[in-house]
Amino acid sequence: MSGHLFPENFLFGTATAAYQVEGAVNEDGRGTSIWDVFSHTPGKTLEGQTGDVACDHYHRFRDDIAMMTDLGMKSYRFSVAWPRIFPEKGAFNQKGVDFYKRLLEELHSHHLIPAVTLYHWDLPQWVEEEGGWRSRETIPYFVDYAETMFRELGDMVPLWITHNEPWCTSFLGHAFGQHAPGHTDWREALSVSHHLLLSHGEVVESFRHSGQKGQIGITLNLTPTEAGTRQPDDLAIAQIVDGNSNRWFLDPLFHGAYPEDMVAFYSQTFGPLDFIQQGDLSKIATPIDFLGINYYSRNRVVYDEKSELFGIRMLPPEGEPTEMGWEVHPESLYHLLKRVEREYTSIPLYITENGAAYEDKVVDGQVHDEKRKEFLRDHFLASAKFLQEGGNLKGYYVWSLMDNFEWSFGYSKRFGIVYVDYATQERLVKDSAKWYQQVIRTRSLG
Ligand code: FCB
Repeated sequence: MSGHLFPENFLFGTATAAYQVEGAVNEDGRGTSIWDVFSHTPGKTLEGQTGDVACDHYHRFRDDIAMMTDLGMKSYRFSVAWPRIFPEKGAFNQKGVDFYKRLLEELHSHHLIPAVTLYHWDLPQWVEEEGGWRSRETIPYFVDYAETMFRELGDMVPLWITHNEPWCTSFLGHAFGQHAPGHTDWREALSVSHHLLLSHGEVVESFRHSGQKGQIGITLNLTPTEAGTRQPDDLAIAQIVDGNSNRWFLDPLFHGAYPEDMVAFYSQTFGPLDFIQQGDLSKIATPIDFLGINYYSRNRVVYDEKSELFGIRMLPPEGEPTEMGWEVHPESLYHLLKRVEREYTSIPLYITENGAAYEDKVVDGQVHDEKRKEFLRDHFLASAKFLQEGGNLKGYYVWSLMDNFEWSFGYSKRFGIVYVDYATQERLVKDSAKWYQQVIRTRSLG
């Protein structure tokens, strides 16, 4: 293929999240979040690891931004830690805001475009104690926090993302118990998903009223799901898994209704979904400016009557998986983008996360992460194909800028294109980052 694969203004970047990189959990008046509590609870994370120090980005952000600049990045996606802004009920913390102002100023002075996520899972513990996302009363707290951010940082932020991966907050956090707050109650998880979506809609509405110049959207983790065979039972179970992972979020956002088959399935299994009130769906569907998509892998499923998870059995990956055990399947990214365009929306799309964990080794001060390079190249190719067919894709954020605290997996999974030596906090640019630098410069895949 000749010429540029990506348009001139394409937003190439990397992404991080506050709790995964910042550290400094007790500094400048930050309050406690549900992830502090969860990671400090024995048995919840690998070897009890926590984000207390993480990558110390709170103190090293200037160096990290210089590094992004050297790598030729156009944009940086990061999240704001809500407990830095409202550490206690009713207590506003100016010092927390000031940190993000410094970060944004530094980005601006290096001509890096910020994309700011408001909620990347670190709910203030005081909100959790009042019922967390299980409670509808949390929505006004989130709106208040978002409005504060628009007022304080609005001039400096062109792209706002309300929520990161509401599926994870809902189901990993409240049904599977793998994420904070670690509950295992499906009905609860469904109410959480609804309250997250509704809080998103209300924040978008309030953003419109605020007259802010920037754009606003949401980031979903979407997982293409296929049946392992053409048997009716397998097709039916794949439909349910797709409904849970994808349609439960896309349908209300873009069609203003939950998928009927899933409403029927959930209410038969868990009782009436009475947390959904009149008028909620039209709020959830408040038009947004862009959709962020996080894509890592696909699911292949079959029906298995012995499975306790509604008869769902996940099939093992075909081919060599990443260090997370996730199948490498770039074609599914292309099909996913096409599906979103065909069935849901023509608004701009961003890949707000894509990347892979591999076991990286430092050899003579270098990290030759060939597999990550290949992974990224194939996923970039899949999105370039979508672009060439006229797809409205505006940017691509590699997860992640640097190795960081991978939630319940602690520091064992390295997703960075920059290696972090956690003992010294030294950063080491991996081969994949050098390769990405060329991609950005040439707008082609070499
Ligand atoms: C996504 C999360 C991100 C990171 C990657 C690997 O689900 O948004 O924080 O953990 O997975």
